[in-house]
Amino acid sequence: MGGTASEREVSLRSGAAVAKGLRERGFEVTAIDVRDENPAIPEGVEAGFIALHGAFGEDGGIQRVLERRGIPYTGSGPESSAHSFDKRLTRAAFLRSGIPVCPGCAMTADGDGVEMTEDGGAPRRVKRSGLAEELDRSLRRPLVVKPACEGSSIGLRIVNGGGDLDAALDEAFSHGPGAVAERFVAGRELTVGLVNGEVLPELEICAAGGCYDFAAKYETGETRYLVPAPVEDGIAERCRELAERAFRVLGARGFGRVDFRMDAGGELYALELNSIPGFTETSLLPKAAAAAGVSFAELCERIMNTAVL
Ligand code: DAL
Ligand code: MG
Repeated sequence: MGGTASEREVSLRSGAAVAKGLRERGFEVTAIDVRDENPAIPEGVEAGFIALHGAFGEDGGIQRVLERRGIPYTGSGPESSAHSFDKRLTRAAFLRSGIPVCPGCAMTADGDGVEMTEDGGAPRRVKRSGLAEELDRSLRRPLVVKPACEGSSIGLRIVNGGGDLDAALDEAFSHGPGAVAERFVAGRELTVGLVNGEVLPELEICAAGGCYDFAAKYETGETRYLVPAPVEDGIAERCRELAERAFRVLGARGFGRVDFRMDAGGELYALELNSIPGFTETSLLPKAAAAAGVSFAELCERIMNTAVL
């Protein structure tokens, strides 16, 4: 848990909650704050529960370290993690396999240029100074602009008609060379957790200001969560089916959470797969598990028991 990525504080909370849950179920737990790429792991550790969000935790880094040291761990392997963590790769995998995504564009900055890949198109290089104009030509606002490799909505901005798209791009690229821009789908936000082959009930997130940003996730306490989501049976089924497909397409393992937008017509758009979803006692996956009758501690134990090498 912990780490040095921007989601450090969230991860410390996830890690502390998981450690408590596992202890309740009789596990002997050592919580390790991973402060560099060569973490000190005590002798005799039988398996690792990775509660490390963001870079190094969700991109395959710590998974490789544990594999080298022969320690089984929870969740997806290095390759799959790398694909789930990078929203450019996730979008490409979803597009290839027919999983609906918000119309968008993947971008990689390099010097004063940016390689942009529109849906179904070949990558092309444009000047950074002309990028906003290019995006406005190919995508309709409002747009969501976000770093490709961040979590918890860090660096995310919604750009409306008169909004400053360039400033949003600057913000996204300040977190790294990768970014994505997607049409903001007006409507509702749903998420589906998967644990050890079981698809949990779909959950609806009702953020007070309409945007489930960092503050709505962790600070304001004003977000409402409805589980199971009050949607028609057909939509709930499709949501769960798409979540399972996304999990399979990305080669995920053990557990994960797939996020969606849903428009007024009930169409679903997959946003991403979180390979190490938030794990505080009030996080989304634990809420969905509780609705399925699985306590937080039991959920931790179930996931712990999926640890493999
Ligand atoms: N990235 C945060 C932890 C989540 O997906 O829940
Ligand atoms: Mg995420």
